[in-house]
Amino acid sequence: MTTIQAFTHASFIYTGENIVQKDGRHLNVNDVSAIEDGAIVFNSKKIIWVGKTEELPIKYKKVKTTDLKNKKAIMPGLIDSHTHLVFAGSRASEFARRCAGATYQEIANEGGGILTTVKATREASVEKLFELALKRALISYRYGVRTIECKSGYGLDHDTEMKCLTVIQHLRKALPQMTFVSTYLGAHAIPHDQKKSRYLDDILHKTLPMVAQKKLAEFCDVFIDEGYFSLAEGERILRTAKKLGLKLKVHADEMQNTESTKLACKLHAHSADHLLKVSDKGIAALAVGNTVATLLPGTAFYLKMDYAPARKILDAGGRVAVATDFNPGSCYSLNLPLMMNFSALYMQMNLAEIFASVTSNAASALGLESSKGSIKRGYDSDFVVLPYERFEEIYYRMGW
Ligand code: NIG
Ligand code: FE
Repeated sequence: MTTIQAFTHASFIYTGENIVQKDGRHLNVNDVSAIEDGAIVFNSKKIIWVGKTEELPIKYKKVKTTDLKNKKAIMPGLIDSHTHLVFAGSRASEFARRCAGATYQEIANEGGGILTTVKATREASVEKLFELALKRALISYRYGVRTIECKSGYGLDHDTEMKCLTVIQHLRKALPQMTFVSTYLGAHAIPHDQKKSRYLDDILHKTLPMVAQKKLAEFCDVFIDEGYFSLAEGERILRTAKKLGLKLKVHADEMQNTESTKLACKLHAHSADHLLKVSDKGIAALAVGNTVATLLPGTAFYLKMDYAPARKILDAGGRVAVATDFNPGSCYSLNLPLMMNFSALYMQMNLAEIFASVTSNAASALGLESSKGSIKRGYDSDFVVLPYERFEEIYYRMGW
């Protein structure tokens, strides 16, 4: 039996209840649903009761209680719904070249970029990859992240992709205080040592079936872009993954518009991610569908590109999540609060939209909306106690 505990006199408990009721769309600032002077009762697994401290039922008055003295607020644990956590090596020298004027695409076209990381990742042992990923997960935890999606995609061959997915399994065991969602992104780039058609065959007939059979990933993702995978190739991979029982994500309309957001919506993917170049057609598809638009402002910042048209997507009625896209090339940051700050400043998102983007909408992007992303009886007790009186402090402070 797990011990019941309580926090009382939280300055505010942000439950996000209205956000969930409104399906994460058309949000205004009050939708964060703040309970002033709140209390929460929970055990190590689930939330048992939430409400105003003065209404705490007598039966919970004797449980182990921490008084937050109206100095600290409580909100759902942050959810980073898009990261490339597992890789080895450094791209610091490529970053220096970018600072001197080279573009991300130029470096990739010369065989650097993702392929530089692939080389280092292939050479690294499972133990080394695990050690690196564990350190990164702990950094993320300290930013308040309690659920993190992690992609493979720096192997680009069967064995290394399997090795990277195994690392995510090990992370689950090592850090039970965090939830790890695993995504197979074999179609992240074309390997330098194999023909694209051969690699596609491997993905479709060898790796995907084994990933599904061994339950090594819950999601399959594809990078659809010029020089990477075409719309038709992406669709083939995604349909095969779906048949095998995997849920879908798409790296969509990032560098060029390929109408891959529309494809993601057509295939009922849980999310279409990046969307720097999404078209009006793509936005219209997001507005009527359930696919979450996962925006990654840190990547636009780091690549000095225009931000995704968040306002257009939100005003059309799309559901928006915000994530770090943590990876060694286009966003080397695990700082989700900083992404919230960017969302306010550069994507003109309001308080509730930002809150939803890292809680319940991010949970929807991962298929976890019935247990995570809002503070409610029966939901997982992975909420966070903020060192601030109000939620606003998080996105106001730059990446604290
Ligand atoms: O999400 N867009 C594709 N992949 C990554 C970048 C990976 C890298 O540069 O290593 C992204 O931005
Ligand atoms: Fe990404």
